[in-house]
Amino acid sequence: MQQDRPLTTRVSKSSTAQGLIIVKALTYHGPHNVSVDNVDDPIIEAQDDIILRVTATAICGSDLHLYRGKIPSTEHGDIFGHEFMGEVVETGRDVTAVQKGDRVVVPFVIACGDCFYCQMHLFAACETTNTGRGAIINKKQIPSGAALFGYSHLYGGVPGGQAEYVRVPKANTGPFKVPQLLDDDKVLFLSDILPTAWQAVKNAQIGKGSRLAIFGAGPVGLLTAACAQMLGAEQIFMVDHHPYRLAFAQERYNVIPINFDEVDDPAEVIIDNTPGSRGVDAVIDAVGFEAKGSMTETLLTNLKLEGGSGKALRQCIAAVRRGGIVSVPGVYSGFIHGFLFGDAFEKGLTFKMGQTHVQAYLPELLQLIEQGMIKPEEIITHHLPLEQAAKGYEIFDKREEDCRKVILVPGIVLPPNPIPSPITAGIENGRPMVPPL
Ligand SMILES: NC(=O)c1ccc[n+]([C@@H]2O[C@H](COP(=O)([O-])OP(=O)(O)OC[C@H]3O[C@@H](n4cnc5c(N)ncnc54)[C@H](O)[C@@H]3O)[C@@H](O)[C@H]2O)c1
Ligand SMILES: [Zn+2]
Ligand SMILES: [Zn+2]
Repeated sequence: MQQDRPLTTRVSKSSTAQGLIIVKALTYHGPHNVSVDNVDDPIIEAQDDIILRVTATAICGSDLHLYRGKIPSTEHGDIFGHEFMGEVVETGRDVTAVQKGDRVVVPFVIACGDCFYCQMHLFAACETTNTGRGAIINKKQIPSGAALFGYSHLYGGVPGGQAEYVRVPKANTGPFKVPQLLDDDKVLFLSDILPTAWQAVKNAQIGKGSRLAIFGAGPVGLLTAACAQMLGAEQIFMVDHHPYRLAFAQERYNVIPINFDEVDDPAEVIIDNTPGSRGVDAVIDAVGFEAKGSMTETLLTNLKLEGGSGKALRQCIAAVRRGGIVSVPGVYSGFIHGFLFGDAFEKGLTFKMGQTHVQAYLPELLQLIEQGMIKPEEIITHHLPLEQAAKGYEIFDKREEDCRKVILVPGIVLPPNPIPSPITAGIENGRPMVPPL
């Protein structure tokens, strides 16, 4: 409740003389139409909520599905953003896991920590947090899976963190404290894409000597390659059609790049280059339902007669060996008619997929970051002020300026004559320039 705290407890650049706080956030106004607007000041609504001052937030490939108008129940004025971190500025009375002043990364999955699924550490299946219906078509009476920050009213309509301040529910289960020594860039991806990549390689049972193929060289695909390399994979094929993304993955993670604009059938190339023409041990679909390459499916999807493109999924099924694993972090919803289930059956495949159980992986991933085993920040190309979030969406969506990942920093000041390289824009000595508060 608003009266739980005095309005002046937060120090904000946008505080008015009366002590009122004007909060800016990235909001949706229709396909390809987002803007940074003044929004309601987030308040403690339940006693296990916290309010966070956001210090860094990223744009995700999942946000692009929203941005392009592909996720139903996304409404005018909805605040996006599910990859964010910052400083705890208020806590509800029942919050014991964190306190004011703590620096935390917030998992994109909102989980209660107590229910049937949370006890099994299947946090994305939490039965208690989502007031929306989720996206299962043939749902019956099963409870919805977890609410997600900034991800439509299907997933709870919870305001997201591409904002100066955000309310974080279930604060005894989600927010994860990170050491002061590690820059935001190093730990921010604990909120989503690093655990997502990690879950993808664990589901795929990648280990020393594994051969795998990753479809999609976006942020999720790239971090998946990083994790697979760290785990000792012997051969990593990577399929995409953006040469700059493939070139980066080849240089950093030693992948064998395959450009599907140049090669008609990437699965055939993969099979040709594996011993005995068997295919790879595992495939990872880091593309999802907006996969390019099937005009028919794209058209049918636009007409709402199809749930999305199965192009990447079919390629995955074709490229994997008998008895292999298809691991799917890429988002799908609804039906895919062109799903070659008979091929999957004859090959004896295992499928593993779903939203990431973020909370389950954070301690081990933080340790890997601290040990320098994994450097998620190396995929970042852009730092922008939160005010320029709309530009960030456009650049990321159109793959302009060799964009791999955009970080939005509330309060960041770009140099007066921006440095031409998108990799260094907004950064001084490797750190974003943030004026003192
Ligand atoms: N499971 C989860 O919890 C979770 C978490 C984060 C992201 N995701 C999903 O992962 C997917 C990837 O996210 P991202 O941030 O890397 O997004 P992105 O949009 O930047 O990357 C997708 C990449 O796939 C490539 N691509 C398109 N069609 C292809 C095809 N037919 N074959 C191979 N590559 C193709 C694109 O060129 C692009 O580089 C999205 O669907 C996103 O929603 C899921
Ligand atoms: Zn994400
Ligand atoms: Zn739960």
